[in-house]
Amino acid sequence: MKALVLAGGRGTRLRPITHTRAKQLVPVANKPVLDYGLEAIAAAGIREVGIIVSDPREMLQPDHRTGEMVTVLVNSQAEIRAAVGDGAKLGLKVTYIEQEAPLGLAHAVKIAEDFMAGDSFVMYLGDNLIKDGITPFVREFEAEKPDAQILLAKVDRPWEFGVAELEGERVVRLEEKPKAPKSDLALVGVYLFTASIFDAVRAIKPSARGELEITDAIQHLISTKRNVRSHIINGWWKDTGRVEDLLEANRIVLADLQTRIDGKVDDKTVIEGPVQIGAGTVVERAHLRGPLVIGAGARIADSYIGPFSAIADGVQVVKAEIEHSIVLDRSEIRDIPQRIESSLIGRDVVVTASAARPSAHRLMLGDTCRVELS
Ligand code: G1P
Repeated sequence: MKALVLAGGRGTRLRPITHTRAKQLVPVANKPVLDYGLEAIAAAGIREVGIIVSDPREMLQPDHRTGEMVTVLVNSQAEIRAAVGDGAKLGLKVTYIEQEAPLGLAHAVKIAEDFMAGDSFVMYLGDNLIKDGITPFVREFEAEKPDAQILLAKVDRPWEFGVAELEGERVVRLEEKPKAPKSDLALVGVYLFTASIFDAVRAIKPSARGELEITDAIQHLISTKRNVRSHIINGWWKDTGRVEDLLEANRIVLADLQTRIDGKVDDKTVIEGPVQIGAGTVVERAHLRGPLVIGAGARIADSYIGPFSAIADGVQVVKAEIEHSIVLDRSEIRDIPQRIESSLIGRDVVVTASAARPSAHRLMLGDTCRVELS
């Protein structure tokens, strides 16, 4: 058994964060989403992993200091290779497989055929997070030996997913992002395949959005009378494609946090609930109400950090209040009278009050940013 992890794609629903970073590396509780998937694969006893990465792309965006528009090479592939390396630290043996363009999940399967060399494999979409891992599903697949096995979960917005129609326990039809979904059972981004999937991906044609859809390939297996098992999962699962989903994932992961304080906390600071503070971080005159995590080398002063916050390395929060938010590396939040909540703040961002007249909001935002002021 091998694994195929998808870490390409554009991450359009998480822009602007994904203008400069692979969506699979956006952290949940200060750990990249991708790591949770790789750890789940390792825990299931799988060692050989192929990671699908995309080519670098050029983007026009404002320079964060001068505001001038500059062309930057966004190389999410290099970032993923740097973060995961050869996989040894997770007990994995990683091979990178380049996809020249985002031509669909089934296209990713197609280009992995040589790597799989006839073995069965679990395909894991790198932005999916399954809290309880995948071990039981892998064991079930190995025991029952179907041609393919899909995982399904009840969702509120089925039109945003691949949707399954069941008759009893049998999958009769799958449809990718249907306008009128026949059920509320979405395809989870974790699939188990035998080599029969390669015939299916060769047989299908690109969809209306120009991609080879994995949903169509599995539908082809069903139509040609192959044995496709389904398993409805009851545990927590999330496709972290949208900000709301990332914040929810952050909440779920932080709910199990254990206290660990490696940084320096002064005696004027009040700590309630589980809190993690990384090495070299200084906390002064603050109120920390967990569960929350603060990375290394950060500074929190005269501030309140509330439940379900993940503050990354090198962040400074001074005279501000933050709750239920994710703040990425080295950002600075200073002198903000209102509480910031349910926010995703990127890297090297500065949010600050200014005494300059006229009194006004002065913004320098990249493309596709979203700001809600009260
Ligand atoms: C993909 C699949 C979809 C599946 C979803 C799960 O959609 O095409 O069938 O339900 O992943 O995360 P995407 O998130 O790439 O739009």
